[in-house]
Amino acid sequence: MNRIEKVREKVDDILLHMTDSQERRCAYVHLYGVAQACALLAVRRGVEAELAVIAGMLHDLHAYAAMDARDHAPKSAEMARTLLQELDWFREDEIAAVCTAIARHSDKQTVHGPLDEVLKDADVMQHMLYDPLQEGGDSQKSRRARLKEELGVHGVLLS
Ligand SMILES: [Fe+2]
Repeated sequence: MNRIEKVREKVDDILLHMTDSQERRCAYVHLYGVAQACALLAVRRGVEAELAVIAGMLHDLHAYAAMDARDHAPKSAEMARTLLQELDWFREDEIAAVCTAIARHSDKQTVHGPLDEVLKDADVMQHMLYDPLQEGGDSQKSRRARLKEELGVHGVLLS
């Protein structure tokens, strides 16, 4: 079992215990969707894809596990730290990189480091792909436009 599979096992364990089936469905679609978008963007940008995928899987975990989105970025980062430390398969600098990206992911207006940016863009991208007819909020407009440019996606959808 590789490290991505190991983390996925932990995430599945948490999500399977969510009692609200609608929220559980949203959690699976969003967390794994963001993880896949992370893989694509990380490979494209030459960022460590394994850590990016793991950050994607864990980035909103507290919001779903606690069914409470308040302060979900720092709280999910804290939860990710505990989970990754308990696994004992990661170096401290890897845990720090993943947790920093998670803690920063709600700040879509600021441009941070490469791994942080992969996670933020993957978060935006999952929403764009989930419903291409939905317009993003103002705070995400320029990020969506940059992403479309980067990926060469032009058209009336994915506004
Ligand atoms: Fe998210």
